[in-house]
Amino acid sequence: SDPDSLQDFCVANLNSSISINGFPCKPDAEVTSHDFFFDGLIKEGNTMNVFGSKVTTGNVLAFPGLNTLGISMNRVDFAPGGLNPPHSHPRATESGVVINGKLLVGFITTNNVYHSKVLTAGQMFVIPKGLVHFQLNVGEGKAHTITAFNSQLPGAEVVPLNLFASTPAIPNGVLTKAFQVEDAVINAIKSKFGS
Ligand code: GLV
Ligand code: MN
Repeated sequence: SDPDSLQDFCVANLNSSISINGFPCKPDAEVTSHDFFFDGLIKEGNTMNVFGSKVTTGNVLAFPGLNTLGISMNRVDFAPGGLNPPHSHPRATESGVVINGKLLVGFITTNNVYHSKVLTAGQMFVIPKGLVHFQLNVGEGKAHTITAFNSQLPGAEVVPLNLFASTPAIPNGVLTKAFQVEDAVINAIKSKFGS
């Protein structure tokens, strides 16, 4: 859902001092075939973290050739039991295909209706723009999925990190009221994320 481009391409100059919506274009004379290919999703991500999952991004920041073209892709790897935690993409609808393993994929609508399915290799899913979603590895071994977005930089609001690991921290009074729990519960959750 990014704006349409006004020329064939506009390979991002990520180092420009000019700040615009997107990135300025590299001069044509400096553009090469390399700008239109990206190997960043070949490698398995390191899932050694609290969630047991790793998102490797193929957005405009990693792959400058995507600038102004309105698309990007990720790879998400999962250890057994790994979770890509509830998150939303403010600028894109997401579609994905499971490459291997077995994933529970779910999203929640603005009416708090939960839609989910367990998917195996070759099966696809779609997450409507902006909705909170997750993937959980429910198989025996590792799993991975390739996801695609209609934005060069979909962005991600990761719910647990947004709420419990922001800088500066959200006041406990907001979180105790929101979740109807005692201070100690909020402190315990915050401590899991190192804050
Ligand atoms: C998966 O949900 C992703 O954002 O790549
Ligand atoms: Mn996502």
